[in-house]
Amino acid sequence: MNRFKDFYNNTVQLSFLDHPFSREPKHVWVICRYKDKWLLTAHKERGIEFPGGKVEPGETAEQAAVREVMEETGGSVGTLHYVGQYKVDGRNDTVIKNVYFAIIHKLTEQETYYETKGPVLLSVIPKNVRKRKGYSFIMKDDVLHTCMRRIKSIFL
Ligand code: GTP
Repeated sequence: MNRFKDFYNNTVQLSFLDHPFSREPKHVWVICRYKDKWLLTAHKERGIEFPGGKVEPGETAEQAAVREVMEETGGSVGTLHYVGQYKVDGRNDTVIKNVYFAIIHKLTEQETYYETKGPVLLSVIPKNVRKRKGYSFIMKDDVLHTCMRRIKSIFL
């Protein structure tokens, strides 16, 4: 179990065990690889981040992951791997999120990208992402680099 503070000083716990906090998490986050690049989205308010969002009623977390990637980037998920789960204890609420690693096989232009400006392809995630203004706060705690290290060691 990894425990740390996030950008807003909330406590975050991250684990690579099988659903340690909830069998039915209400949020998903998807680290996407398209060809030889990372596929992210430009959220209109938060900035650049890996796609994700809320699990809708009647949906599984995996279905939400596939849908969110399509909505926010136009990417079709070929393979979806569970990576881990994290829990953020905020001032008012607790958020539990599944993290996935997705291999994207096709990128299709969409008419709308919902609350984002659409896909962003990066060869590398900048080392100083925590200090970069254009990046989302969800990219600015230990979840990102701990999961990236795990993904690189297992899947790439
Ligand atoms: P909407 O209902 O879509 O407006 O969402 P919301 O802004 O109320 O947020 P949500 O329920 O997604 O999250 C509530 C709070 O949890 C946020 O304000 C953040 O502080 C925190 N949070 C959500 N997702 C993450 C995340 O991926 N990482 C971190 N560190 N905090 C998160």
